[in-house]
Amino acid sequence: MLTNGAIWRDTDGNIIHAHGGHMLFAQGYYYWYGENRTNDTYVSVYRSTDLMHWEYRGDALTTGSKTDSYRVRTDTSLVNARGGKINIERPKVLYNGKTGKYVMWMHVENGIDYHQAACGVAVSDTPDGAFTYLGCFNPFGEMSRDCTLFQEEDGSAYFISAARDNADLVIYRLSEDYLNIDVAVQRLFQGEYREAPALVKREGIYYLFTSFCTGWDPNQCRYATAKAIEGPWSMLTDIGDATTFDTQPAFFLTVQESGNIYYVSDRWNGKDYHDSRYVILPLTFDDQARPQLSFTDRITIV
Ligand code: DGJ
Repeated sequence: MLTNGAIWRDTDGNIIHAHGGHMLFAQGYYYWYGENRTNDTYVSVYRSTDLMHWEYRGDALTTGSKTDSYRVRTDTSLVNARGGKINIERPKVLYNGKTGKYVMWMHVENGIDYHQAACGVAVSDTPDGAFTYLGCFNPFGEMSRDCTLFQEEDGSAYFISAARDNADLVIYRLSEDYLNIDVAVQRLFQGEYREAPALVKREGIYYLFTSFCTGWDPNQCRYATAKAIEGPWSMLTDIGDATTFDTQPAFFLTVQESGNIYYVSDRWNGKDYHDSRYVILPLTFDDQARPQLSFTDRITIV
């Protein structure tokens, strides 16, 4: 059993740093990727078979990761103009069945100011990396900040990110190899400043959860629904309490065997980023397919 908001440790006894993260089921394991801002690391990866005990598998992306430029012009710098670390947030990873590659998308800032607002891409032959960084860019010139990835059953995939200084949220379909953006399919919530997108599909309905934009401070999570990813999307509805139990969405976890869905979130510590914690809550649905989220101190993921 895990205690929500407590310090969570890996099987070596070290603190788990997988903030703003994502999980992928591959080769019989759940892989948990997330931000790790210690030392030269950007993204760490852990794996588990029971979703309770996490083995540290290494750093998927660091200041010293290999870089390669892909067909679009990207900025492949992993250190900034001052020689310091850039800022990598909300890494998400999908497996591409056509290319056999693991593809990571993330939010990239230059570590000096917050104006780059770019999306970054990295690729690996194995789920636990090391990943090769293919650089960052602004999709069709758009700003791109908080983001998520979503994969359909047919293998098509979507990248969703906050644009126009976070005022809008754009849904992009990825190219077949997941290494580039193909087309923007929808622009949502214009002027509503939604961030931290997390998307799950259940029984033909898409549920898109987002937070409001208040830096590291928690706020009211809201969700919209659609029957197709392109929309039409519903208006936003509140879920959870006014601070979403002091959390911000990271991603949804759907358990392979049970099909149970969990809301996986960050409880940020704005004063000491490294002491940010995790909260995982079951996402349930009423008889009209409306999602329900309530707080529980202790959680067993089944
Ligand atoms: C909220 C975002 O959701 C986080 O990923 C991070 O960018 C913080 N803002 C920074 O203030």
